Parts: sequence; C-alpha cells; structure tokens
Amino acid sequence: MNRIKEWLKEGGFSDFDRFVREHNFDFIIAMKEHYRRGLYLADKQKMCLNPNFPKNVLPKEIEDLSMSILNPLSLTKIKEGSFILDVGCGAGVDCFLASKTVGTKGLVIGIDPTEILIERANFLKDKYKISNVEFKIGNSDPLPFEDNFFDIITMNYSFHLVKDKLKSLVELKRVLKPDGQIVIGDSFMPSKIGFVNKPEEWFYRAGGAVSPDEFQEIAKKAGFRECSFTKKDYPELPELIAGYMVLTK
Ligand SMILES: C[S@@+](CC[C@H](N)C(=O)[O-])C[C@H]1O[C@@H](n2cnc3c(N)ncnc32)[C@H](O)[C@@H]1O
Repeated sequence: MNRIKEWLKEGGFSDFDRFVREHNFDFIIAMKEHYRRGLYLADKQKMCLNPNFPKNVLPKEIEDLSMSILNPLSLTKIKEGSFILDVGCGAGVDCFLASKTVGTKGLVIGIDPTEILIERANFLKDKYKISNVEFKIGNSDPLPFEDNFFDIITMNYSFHLVKDKLKSLVELKRVLKPDGQIVIGDSFMPSKIGFVNKPEEWFYRAGGAVSPDEFQEIAKKAGFRECSFTKKDYPELPELIAGYMVLTK
C-alpha cells in the first residue's frame, strides 16, 4: 500500500485535485492528465498490476501497461480472422493480445481519446512489427467506422468514463455485425459522486460507473437483444462489484 502511495505521489497525484480545479473541472483535460501520469507510473513500476491479464504471452513492456483489473477478451468468441474493436484501448495491451489470435486474416483496431497512450501503442506496434493492429485517436461516440463492421467489440475499464452511456452503446451496436458480440469489463459499483464534487473519484474509484441493473436498463434502451452480467470476485476487495457485461445485437 505504501509503495502504491509513493508511486502516486511521484506521479504528481497528490496535487491532482488542485490541478483539476485550476482547469475548471474540465473532464477531458483532467482525464488525459490522469492517464499521462498513469503511464509514467506504469513505466516506473515495471510489473503488471492486472491479476487477470495472461502472463508471458506478450513482451513484458507491453504486459506491464495494462491499466485494468479485468480481461474481457477471455469471454469473447475471438478466432482466426475476427475483426476486433477495443474502445478505450489505452496503450493497446488488449489489442496486442487479440492480434495473436486473429492472425493475418483478421484485424484489431484500438481507439482511445488520450493521445499519449495511442502514441505509445503505435510505438510498440512498430517496435514489435505487429501488422494486424491499428490505433486511432477518438472515443466511443461517434465511432469512425461503418455499420456492421466488427465481429467483437471490447471495452476494458473504460466504460465507466463514458459520459453519455446510452449514446455510446447505440454507437457500439451500430458498428457490430448482426451476429457479433460485445464484452465490457468494468466496475459496476456506482459511487453516485458527481465529477464536479469529487473529480478524483472518477479516476481512482470509477465514479462514473453504473450498477448491473442500470447498465442492463441502458442496454435495453439501446436495443440489445441480450445482456448478461458475470461478476468477477476479488477476495481482497469483497465489496467490489466488477465483472463483464456480454451483449448481443
Ligand atoms: C483505465 S484505462 C484502461 C485502458 C485499457 N483498456 C487497459 O486495459 O489498459 C481507461 C481508458 O479509457 C479511455 N477513455 C476515457 N473516456 C473514453 C471514452 N469516452 N471513450 C473511449 N475511451 C475512453 C482513457 O483514455 C483510458 O485510456
């Protein structure tokens, strides 16, 4: 715990609240700053903090950049030739993982609004010569893709950051093939703390999260046929409600 506190201090997180206030609670600026500091810390700690990320499949410098505690790909029907979209891909960790399975006939696209993370993802793609992966700067709404394009869409700990959750789910559905599948791994434990009152909650404690019931209600409104929740237990955090929402069109 002390080690984590030290990292956070070193990354400048102790004055993060003030930083956010000085920027007039601008959500996008604060979020990008949060992930700039997060990348700095991930580089420094040199270990993968995600207990569910498959170990020794990717180069360690990629594996160590996972900024989630989940692995949505593990619930997908990914296969050779699949077209995959990862929304909120961060430094591209899950995209690189997916690229191993889809092979040369498949394609993986990662999209994320934080430029510094996309820069890192592109750097790693070039360094390890991974040709079936592409990265774009952007967010979940609107998605710059044609209708019915992807077999599988994943989001790994990024959905709670999405402000208009209904609009984003409608967008995800639009670009998904009719027989496609979406897997969203996230916290589903709403803190009910608004960004303006407690900005740091949005980033440290997934303050924008919705409950499983709320999510399923939004998915219904977005027109999804099925939406099931699989909870993932964390023995050290018994109160945490985190897991996977699996959606079909
Ligand atoms: C906790 S990180 C997870 C990154 C990556 N999925 C991983 O597992 O390492 C959350 C990511 O969501 C991105 N994000 C924030 N708002 C978003 C939005 N509206 N649409 C898509 N991605 C978003 C952030 O830039 C950040 O990279």
